[in-house]
Amino acid sequence: MTASAETLKKETAAKNAAWQALIQHQKQIGTLHLRTLFAEDAKRGERMAAQAAGVFLDYSKNRITDETLRLLIDLAQQCGLKDRIDAMFRGDRINATENRSVLHVALRAPGGGSIVVDGHNVLSDVHAVLDKMARFAEHVRNGEWQGHTGKRIRNVINIGIGGSDLGPVMAYEALKFYSDRSMTFRFVSNVDATDLVEATRDLDPAETLFIVSSKTFTTLETMTNARDAREWMQLGLGSDAKAVARHFVAVSTNAEKVAEFGIDTANMFEFWDWVGGRYSMDSAIGLSTMLAIGPENFRAMLDGFHEMDEHFRTAPFERNLPVLMGLLAVWYNDFFGSETVAVLPYEQYLKRFPAYLQQLTMESNGKHVKLDGARVEYATGPIYWGEPGTNGQHSFYQLIHQGTRLIPCDFIAFADALNPVGRHHDMLLANVFAQAEALGFGKTREQVEAEGTPEWLVPHRICEGNRPSNMILMDRLTPAALGKLVALYEHNVFTQGVIWHIDSFDQWGVELGKVLAQRIIPELQSKDEPRLHHDSSTNNLIRRYRQMKGMQP
Ligand code: F6P
Repeated sequence: MTASAETLKKETAAKNAAWQALIQHQKQIGTLHLRTLFAEDAKRGERMAAQAAGVFLDYSKNRITDETLRLLIDLAQQCGLKDRIDAMFRGDRINATENRSVLHVALRAPGGGSIVVDGHNVLSDVHAVLDKMARFAEHVRNGEWQGHTGKRIRNVINIGIGGSDLGPVMAYEALKFYSDRSMTFRFVSNVDATDLVEATRDLDPAETLFIVSSKTFTTLETMTNARDAREWMQLGLGSDAKAVARHFVAVSTNAEKVAEFGIDTANMFEFWDWVGGRYSMDSAIGLSTMLAIGPENFRAMLDGFHEMDEHFRTAPFERNLPVLMGLLAVWYNDFFGSETVAVLPYEQYLKRFPAYLQQLTMESNGKHVKLDGARVEYATGPIYWGEPGTNGQHSFYQLIHQGTRLIPCDFIAFADALNPVGRHHDMLLANVFAQAEALGFGKTREQVEAEGTPEWLVPHRICEGNRPSNMILMDRLTPAALGKLVALYEHNVFTQGVIWHIDSFDQWGVELGKVLAQRIIPELQSKDEPRLHHDSSTNNLIRRYRQMKGMQP
């Protein structure tokens, strides 16, 4: 056996041993109740907390002991997490199946440094684009950039989908407090025409700017919407090519396709193949965010991202917030068989954060093979979902409290309200603390009986508790705070992916549906009855659709 094969064998054996140790450990402590864990350690709530970059994480209400953490960290070490983090920051091609570097961390690194890809320092490109975005944003915001008829731009519509939409929408909503309220921002993503029609119906094309955001500039939904938006604009302003130039800009990696569409490449904001779509909200894909909140606030957001990046890169695992959160997610996913994670922001401005996280987490870690192509022998990517509190409390929390499934929760809250009206904020925070307490400690039979509850009703009113949660507490939802929060989850997802030994940066699974849709489109539209070669269900659905539209008997 060669030396490297020998090392690999040893590493695999160590990983397996760490994994087995966790299985055994879970058998010992898996049923321990949080009530017991807290009763045995008066300081647990203070001890099992960590703080960095202005983010306070209380992870004490998890079904863990100090030994659990030790074993999880050992697993992370055996999986080479530190090396993988360094490899990402160095620009190694860790997105193996696409042979690409994964360098969203470069998007927020300060200028003057150096991260080299293919012999080129990408930081100079990043800052050149940021400067170009800032100049453009200033011009639009101060009215220097005018529409074709000389009117000021008052409406901005971002057309994109997936990572070219979810980040911009989430960030716009999250940072609305800081946005220019004299401007209207809308986001069109769905190929369902209703999205575009509703977004444009009350707008004046002379005052409207479209940002066509697409890494590839080939995505069906985005290009269809962009073409129809161009038609809408030309109907309003005439088909002068100059009109397109004043009302359409692009964010893409594909200059050729941008030019083909009729957008002046001088008005294209570039990003690079080493930025994954779901990791791109801080690249030029964030142009709508910058237009809304201004360049200074955008840079503050990038600084927030960078602070969390540095924490992730340098902090020991025991105090490393993304590492701790990632390992806890693995703990429940693989050792308790829990299948989902609920993300529950107690901040109305974060209403789109769970939707944003769904792409970040599930497109990244929804994988069934390891980097070497072998099938995984364990569960990967949990399902992330959630809604802002307190709305969720009056809807799905019942299942988390008393259902039969174990659903770890991430609560997110801020000490300062952006809109400090009356007693709302104390009530909001009281609710988030109360929910975590209720989930963790529940209500015992004795407590229910002591309230004089009739015996038949007692079982219905018992809350078993022992439902784990993290509490993420920050000062105030600022642009920097948002950057820190997003980076916290990006690196949490990365940590999970390293443990599972998967490629968190490709998304081959979404391709098949796209290819099949391209095949079906002409079958739906053809005047003559098409020869169908799908399964009998798909064939029947296509025929039924054509019949319903009167296209065939
Ligand atoms: O749905 C797959 C996907 O490739 C996402 O990863 C990406 O964010 C989205 O499509 C949009 O792609 P593009 O920016 O190239 O239009």
